[in-house]
Amino acid sequence: MCGPDGYRHYMLKEIHEQPRVVADALGTMINSATGRPALPNFPELKRASRLLMAACGTSYYAALTGKYLFEKLARLPVEVELASEFRYREPVLVPGRTALFISQSGETADTLAALRLCREAGLSLLSIVNVTDSSMARESHAILPTLAGPEIGVASTKVFTAQLTILSALALALASHRGFITEREEARLTRVLGETPAAMAAILADAGSIKALARDLVAPAKSAIFLGRGPSFPIALEGALKLKETSYIHAEGYAAGEFKHGPMALVDETMPIIALAPSDSLFPKIASNLAEINALGGRTIFIGDAAGLARVSGLAGHILLPETDPFTIPLVYSLPVQLLAYHAAVARGADVDQPRHLTKSVTAE
Ligand code: F6R
Repeated sequence: MCGPDGYRHYMLKEIHEQPRVVADALGTMINSATGRPALPNFPELKRASRLLMAACGTSYYAALTGKYLFEKLARLPVEVELASEFRYREPVLVPGRTALFISQSGETADTLAALRLCREAGLSLLSIVNVTDSSMARESHAILPTLAGPEIGVASTKVFTAQLTILSALALALASHRGFITEREEARLTRVLGETPAAMAAILADAGSIKALARDLVAPAKSAIFLGRGPSFPIALEGALKLKETSYIHAEGYAAGEFKHGPMALVDETMPIIALAPSDSLFPKIASNLAEINALGGRTIFIGDAAGLARVSGLAGHILLPETDPFTIPLVYSLPVQLLAYHAAVARGADVDQPRHLTKSVTAE
């Protein structure tokens, strides 16, 4: 299929739309009069002492990222649930609590069933949806639209980063409302968030090395591992999902600290181990994971900034990103993993926009 606007595939077009999509999503969350992130018109969220999030697939990884953001910034405890497990687990649901559902389509059968279960149990429902006239949008008490426009590629890209943007701004608004950050820090983080589209545009403008690395080091592999720590961990999971669904390379995402507890036995000289290693407080930890894997003869690929790259050695390859504030690492580091998956899939001749066995919206179990 030939995508519009001169892009070879819709997936690539949608990856390139992200600077605009993120800016638009942010625009919906910032009060134009005050310039501050605003809470939605949903008083239950202001009162919430804990939050339940449920979703599937890529939207689930957005929810997992949201947990890191909400707990760190707003000190709000979050439970994240795979909707498909949640609905059948006979979960303990407390009336009056608040639940947040995340979905591109707003029609995913398991997420919708989870939402209905919560509704029947008397919870207050907020949804982050891309399709604003979807079933989930209609059946929620309030929605936060991602407004990313139609997503044609089956593999979600631009809606994922739009979801992350909404969650990031919401975490900030909640952090201020709950008194866990100063107005000054809120202003700084709002500025950092506002700078993300430009950082993304810079990565997209200079993505030739990612393409070459995907072709030479990832596309020939049978299997790949993505490692991350902290808020990079859900992005590692998302990178593995993107790679497996578009290129059909078996891939797994791991919390880097968990890697020693079994998966380390997989290390050999053929399998790429792709580490998301931003220069945040956890950098020394992931650098030591990399050193250990290298010592075992592993084939490591580093995704991080120049300062981090200078502190590691023995790599098979690297992707260099701009120095990124810890707050926006999930957003910025989503791009290289999407591009890696896309270019590896193209190099293998896969049908990138319509991977085998998949549909865009999973409306049946
Ligand atoms: C993967 C992907 C899927 C969806 C999942 C949930 O690239 O797109 O994992 O994220 O099927 O779909 P929504 O967000 O429509 O509920």
